[in-house]
Amino acid sequence: MAEAVGEAPGKALLMGEHAVVYGHPAIAVPLRSVKATATVEFSRNGGIEIYAPEIGEHITSVSEASPRLAPLAKLVETVSRFFGEERQGYRVLIESTIPIGRGMGSGAAAAVALVRAVCTALGRSLDADAIGEFANAAEIAYHGNPSGVDTAVIARDEPVYFVKSKPIRGIEVGPSAFVLVVADTGIASSTAQVVEDVRRARRKDKARYDSYFWELGSMASVAREVIRTGSPEELGLCMNNAQKTLRLLSVSCPELDALVSTALEKGAFGAKLSGAGRGGSMIAVVDPATNLEQFSADLRAAGAERVLTTILSGGTQA
Ligand code: MEV
Repeated sequence: MAEAVGEAPGKALLMGEHAVVYGHPAIAVPLRSVKATATVEFSRNGGIEIYAPEIGEHITSVSEASPRLAPLAKLVETVSRFFGEERQGYRVLIESTIPIGRGMGSGAAAAVALVRAVCTALGRSLDADAIGEFANAAEIAYHGNPSGVDTAVIARDEPVYFVKSKPIRGIEVGPSAFVLVVADTGIASSTAQVVEDVRRARRKDKARYDSYFWELGSMASVAREVIRTGSPEELGLCMNNAQKTLRLLSVSCPELDALVSTALEKGAFGAKLSGAGRGGSMIAVVDPATNLEQFSADLRAAGAERVLTTILSGGTQA
C-alpha cells in the first residue's frame, strides 16, 4: 500500500481559555502557517510503531511507556477498531512544525493528523467533529481534563465558538477584518499542569474563581458578537479585559506580560495570553493598516521567538 498522509494546522485561543474547562464559551482560530503531518503505512508485522523525530521518541507497541506516543498508538487502535480493522498493523511517522508547549495545539494537531491519515489508509472517512472527538480521546489520555476546544478547532480548520459538551459552532465574521498576531514567548509550559494548578486554586476559593471564569466566558460571548457586527477596536477591549482576569487567575507570567505591553505600546487594539499561559503564546488584534513586518520585529525585540499572523475576514480566515 502507498503511504497515507494526514495534516492538521496549529491553533490559538482568542478568548475563553481556562473558563472553557468549566463549561463557559471560548473562541479558537486555526493557525495554518504551522502544521502537523502524520504518514501512515500498513505493516506486515502487525502491531503499531510510531516515530516522532521532533520529540525524539519511537515506540513499537501501544503498551510502551511513552506519555506522548502511547495515547497516539491507542488512538490508531481505536480508529481501526471503529472501522472493524483491528487486526491491521501500522507504521506511523509524525512530523510537525508546531512548536511544543506554546499553546498552539501541537499535541491536538498530531492526533487529528493521525486520525485523518488512518482514515485515508483504510479508505474510510469521518466528518471533522468526529475526527475531533477521536483525537480528544488521545488528549484526555495525555492531559487529563482537556475541554476539547483544541481538537475541535484543529479538526474543523476554521474558527469555532466552543462550549464543552455542546454542538460546535462556527464564527460569523461581519464587515470588519480582524488581523490577529500570535507571538511565542519561547517558553514551553504544560497545559495539563497549569489547568491542574487552576483547579487546585479554585478548590480553595470557588466563588472567586467561578466569577473569573464567568467573566472570561462572558467576554468570549461579547467577542463573538463583536466579530459578527463590530470592529477590531471593540475586540481589543474584550481581549484587554480578558487579560486582566487571566492575570488574576495567575496564569500570565513576566514574559507574556512583556509581549502584551509591547503589542499595546506598538498600537495593538488589544492583547492577551493565548492558551494555558505561564509561557506559551500571546495574541493581539491590530489595525489592518499595521506594518506587520515592523510589528513582528518589535515583538521579537521584546522576547518573542516566533510571530505568526492570521486574518478573520468576510466569513473566512486567511
Ligand atoms: C488550551 O488550549 C486551553 C485551556 O483552556 C485548556 C483546555 O481548554 O483544555 C487552558
